[in-house]
Amino acid sequence: MTTSTSARVNNKSNGNSYFSLTVRSSRVAVMITTFFSIALNLISCSPRADSVQPEDTIEVYTISGTRITAGIDSNSTLKSVAPFPIGAAINPRLLSSIPLYKETLQREYNSVSSENCFKMNQIQPKAGGFYWKDTDALVNFAKESNMRVHGHTLIYYKSLPEWVTSFQGDSLAWENLMKTHIQTVVGRYKGVVTSWDVVNEAFEDDGTLRRSVWYEKLGADYIARCFQYAHQADPRALLFYNENVVGKPKKLTAVLALVNNLKKRGIAIHGIGVQMHININTSEEALTTDVRQFVNTGLLVHISELDIRMNPTYSTNFTLTNALQTRHALKYKNVAKLYRSVVPKSQQFGITNWNVGDADSWLRKTSPCEDYPLLFSDNYSRKPAYYGFIQGLTN
Ligand code: XIL
Repeated sequence: MTTSTSARVNNKSNGNSYFSLTVRSSRVAVMITTFFSIALNLISCSPRADSVQPEDTIEVYTISGTRITAGIDSNSTLKSVAPFPIGAAINPRLLSSIPLYKETLQREYNSVSSENCFKMNQIQPKAGGFYWKDTDALVNFAKESNMRVHGHTLIYYKSLPEWVTSFQGDSLAWENLMKTHIQTVVGRYKGVVTSWDVVNEAFEDDGTLRRSVWYEKLGADYIARCFQYAHQADPRALLFYNENVVGKPKKLTAVLALVNNLKKRGIAIHGIGVQMHININTSEEALTTDVRQFVNTGLLVHISELDIRMNPTYSTNFTLTNALQTRHALKYKNVAKLYRSVVPKSQQFGITNWNVGDADSWLRKTSPCEDYPLLFSDNYSRKPAYYGFIQGLTN
């Protein structure tokens, strides 16, 4: 695919170079009146290479000769145009330290997930010693902002506190530990947290059950019991199995077998979370096939952890070009579009971005090289990806 953009780099009197992008409504053929610009450091890709400036230049942005258009007006936001909830995984500590983080969330999103604060090492760092400060801050923020809360995650092989990894006890003691954890956390937020990733990443890529501490101590059916314990603690909560299946067909088959087995046994499971940590080269066909198979279970489908790497090869010479931003925007558009077209309305739980601005992304911390995987820049300006996503949500 050849990719091109007619975006222009302007030199303003303040000396900043930046790139402007105007999105047109295909339906009403009215130029969007939102003025924005995204500064690009085209040479060094410094992580803080952007800024928001008023812009009055109208540009048409094209991908393979096609305009990036979106049926939005200047007041539109992700949540106002999306036909299903749009979420972000958040870090509650950033709510108080970065005002723009909070403002962007409140303006754009109507659902929040927890990036880390519900994980066991954070919420129960000591045996029986629960730490509620961050999770309370998250749910209070969601309440005051009229947002749905999705809890991630109750039982995971990672992010375990040391007291669990070194725990000595028989299977009854382990069962009690797991049950108490689930029921204490779910019970505290009963009626407040709408939905939970009850178990996260229980399978290996080859489709076998991961030899996690839970599997080792409690056997394969621990997963079913986690769902039962969560359901007992809040019978109205929606319960999800969450997994990283993209490009891993054996794992996907195993997840399908698991959820169908739970359903057959009458165990409360309501949805599947498809993480979707992908990159600009990920095939849409493969994503469509994956999502379609989950749809066939009849359960809710949540794209639960969406981010799209621009630098999948971890190049140390990475340059953030307009062409790359365009491909990135197109991938976001296609993900939104495929979700709308493949998942029936009644099964659309929503799409959750894995945090808000590029600087907040876990990939900045875990990847050896720079990347720009999210919808908002380091300073929370809307990126081309934002408009691509909007287009996929609307057109
Ligand atoms: C990641 C967080 O984003 C990081 O901040 C943390 O250091 C490690 O965990 N799949 C999941 C998430 O289900 O819980 C992971 O979150 C990303 C991969």
